[in-house]
Amino acid sequence: MTEQEILDKISHYKFYHIIPLTETIATPGNPVYLPAQNLCLRMMEKLDFRDKRVLDVGCRDGLYSFKAESLGAREVIGIDNDLSLPATEFLIPFFNSKIKMVQINLYDLTATKFGLFDIILFPGVLYHLRYPFWGLRILRDILKLGGDLIIETAIWRGESRNAFLFCPIEAESPYEPSSCTFFNEKGLLDTLTSLGFTAQAIRYVPESSGFSRRRKEWLRQMKTCLSGNRPPIRQVSRAVLHCTYRGIDRHSRYITYWEGEHAIHSTIGG
Ligand SMILES: C[S@@+](CC[C@H](N)C(=O)[O-])C[C@H]1O[C@@H](n2cnc3c(N)ncnc32)[C@H](O)[C@@H]1O
Repeated sequence: MTEQEILDKISHYKFYHIIPLTETIATPGNPVYLPAQNLCLRMMEKLDFRDKRVLDVGCRDGLYSFKAESLGAREVIGIDNDLSLPATEFLIPFFNSKIKMVQINLYDLTATKFGLFDIILFPGVLYHLRYPFWGLRILRDILKLGGDLIIETAIWRGESRNAFLFCPIEAESPYEPSSCTFFNEKGLLDTLTSLGFTAQAIRYVPESSGFSRRRKEWLRQMKTCLSGNRPPIRQVSRAVLHCTYRGIDRHSRYITYWEGEHAIHSTIGG
């Protein structure tokens, strides 16, 4: 395909990701997301993808799926509940890639449908989940024991000592209304721990143009307070987290309480 043919072809699509196609051409995605994406790509490079089964959840145009394939993954499945035509019609054939992309909601993933994975990539989706604990539980249940989970998400920075989940609706979201789940760091780490994961590393995207942004935010919050309204929660950062699945004891008291059936009330009482 000539450079002009590539440019003609990509002009028909709306891209989210910026993916290099040749030395001089890349897909015209949104550059705003680059800092978080680059941090996530660097985190991926620390893992061994060779011969692994990889799931990319919320794969959009496949930036991370293609990266996993280039790092040697044996099989890559990308899922999204709004599958990217640019990926399925253009990028996969263009790269002669073996990536399989499927339109499905992550809540409908099961081990019976897709098997178990060695590595699950979960960037840019957790903060969109209305049922975040259930979503993480589903991913845990399709990850092999000892498998890796990479999460890239928004973290609420307002509180550090207690585990919190900020779950705004509509205009109270720091982003836009489909973004309704903002754990603080302790909330996310504790949730992952109780689901059977061990956190290995967490890295924050460096804040850009810090001073003027914080000043603007502070002025906005002061104005809201003075008008008698509750100050909106806007202090969110982006972070990438690597954790491994250490397993859970399915017969333990709390796992049976939360996920199965138990006899605590009927035997111990209370
Ligand atoms: C903000 S984009 C992130 C894309 C990519 N993962 C990244 O980080 O660059 C979120 C993507 O996740 C998909 N998504 C959101 N909720 C989902 C769900 N419950 N099941 C499957 N995909 C979902 C959206 O359709 C969208 O493509």
